[in-house]
Amino acid sequence: MHTHLDIAAGNGTADAGNAPAALPSRLPRHVAIIMDGNGRWAQRRGKPRSFGHRAGQKAVRATVEFCLREGIPALTLFAFSSENWRRPADEIGVLMELFLRALDREVKTLHKNNVRLRFIGDLDAFQPRLRDRMRQGEALTAGNTALALNIAVGYGGRWDIAQAARALAEEVKAGRLEPSQVDEAAVHARTALSDLPAPDLFIRTGGEQRISNFLLWQCAYSELYFTDVLWPDVDAALLREACDDYARRERRFGLTSAQVAS
Ligand code: IPE
Ligand code: IPE
Ligand code: MG
Repeated sequence: MHTHLDIAAGNGTADAGNAPAALPSRLPRHVAIIMDGNGRWAQRRGKPRSFGHRAGQKAVRATVEFCLREGIPALTLFAFSSENWRRPADEIGVLMELFLRALDREVKTLHKNNVRLRFIGDLDAFQPRLRDRMRQGEALTAGNTALALNIAVGYGGRWDIAQAARALAEEVKAGRLEPSQVDEAAVHARTALSDLPAPDLFIRTGGEQRISNFLLWQCAYSELYFTDVLWPDVDAALLREACDDYARRERRFGLTSAQVAS
């Protein structure tokens, strides 16, 4: 069972939490998931895409429960990308309504289960009432320790790196930082989720084998797991399979196999 302290152990390392010291753990400390395939799931049933988004919520609950049960301390879910803003307005409308209602419905339960909820992404683009609900959910659960649940909304990996660069530029301009101090650790500290270990296991459902601008900085050494299963069909058995697959892999972080074994 991992504790809150295990999460803290990955903090602030100069190599962005990818230290070989993390190797003995067979259970991922952080799982990141691209929840893809809702639209196709619905279309296969002759239903509108929104039906698939609605059905996907059950898989989110199952995934959170799985992490709590297994003692996986951090979970990051890609719910809406910066590029998804370019989808048809009616689909975006449905998604925003679902987010709002899910927040109202689930936050209390998450809090009861000691889950810390956080949103990453460019929240400025969201309606104020939705943004307020997100902030309220974060504030209520801020002290929780069983699971760090991060929802990526309006998120893009390039946005994340660009906003870190902007923050650094501001600090240099203000005279608080020298350009020579802009190193990997400095960038890392200003990207999303810098207080968590980097994702050990990166799952994408829905059959595509691409990253689609999810956590670019954070996934430098993540183990990738792709499955054709569509997001609404995801259950504990699928997650178990992904974790078992992860446990069998040898993570080398650039070292030789012999070095890793010693
Ligand atoms: C993922 O499912 C959810 C979001 C991107 C919001 P999709 O909506 O991308 O479903 P497919 O990939 O079209 O089947
Ligand atoms: C990635 O899925 C984003 C989310 C799941 C939130 P997309 O469906 O947007 O990705 P592409 O367009 O197939 O690359
Ligand atoms: Mg998709």
